[in-house]
Amino acid sequence: MRIVLLGPPGAGKGSLASLYHQRLGVPHLSTGEIFRHEIARDSRLGQRVKRYVTNGRLVPDALVVEVMASRLTTGSRRGFVLDGFPRTREQADRLDRVLEHRRQPLDGAVYLTSPESLLVQRLSGRRVCERCGENYHVRRMPPKRPGRCDRCRGRLITRKDDEPATIRKRLAIDHRTATPLLHYYKRRGILYRVNGSGHVNTVFVRTLKLFRRNGWLHDPTTSLSRRRNQRSPRSRRISRIAAA
Ligand code: AP5
Repeated sequence: MRIVLLGPPGAGKGSLASLYHQRLGVPHLSTGEIFRHEIARDSRLGQRVKRYVTNGRLVPDALVVEVMASRLTTGSRRGFVLDGFPRTREQADRLDRVLEHRRQPLDGAVYLTSPESLLVQRLSGRRVCERCGENYHVRRMPPKRPGRCDRCRGRLITRKDDEPATIRKRLAIDHRTATPLLHYYKRRGILYRVNGSGHVNTVFVRTLKLFRRNGWLHDPTTSLSRRRNQRSPRSRRISRIAAA
């Protein structure tokens, strides 16, 4: 499948994209993760985007498109999931042109909806591993050992853009940019809204139904069963929480 995952900050895009990768084998690309990684290693790109990302502002369209076009590999049989891109109408238009050129148009734009109070709760409780970038939540998805990543034992930190004032700024920017972006995909007839509230496993299942209904998954049953034994500690933890 070839989809873009849309939604405000804290909608759960990163958490879901990670599950699609672990459970369905669909490669995912996150602009936020790419930028944070480049900032951490103080690369030229990192230096160019740092002031935008840490202040919760959008990186200029031209730079984002340049970064994504060079990293987007459309060769995988399972397609791709884009998380955090596109975020403006201009980016959506440029993405379509890149994919048209490669004769691999998008299947769908999946928009995760959630009340704003839930978004703020999720973002203010988020902790990320400073080494591998894994996401946690102090109450909803806590690590086994407080302050340490289950996967690599790295230190868990608060993202700079998860400070309360920056959260408010990011949500306000999203209010402005989301409407034209959603209109764009609605006009193209490929916009799908999914309720993003509830446990991440519940949301995963909701989206899975959508993917199956539309025939976007490449042999989902096989990949699901094959991957059941290859789950990461986080994915197993999520399943345990869901089963509890
Ligand atoms: P990015 O990293 O993409 O940030 P974002 O879009 O603001 O999204 P978040 O990562 O904050 O939230 P999410 O929806 O992924 O939620 P998550 O799964 O983490 O971008 C960062 C910055 O980079 C931007 O501000 C901008 O500067 C720049 N940038 C990136 N892309 C750009 C672009 N295209 N153009 C211009 N600039 C760009 O979940 C949040 C928390 O909730 C976690 O703690 C998680 O554990 C928890 N959680 C998630 N789902 C659930 C659930 N269902 N139940 C319980 N807890 C949950």
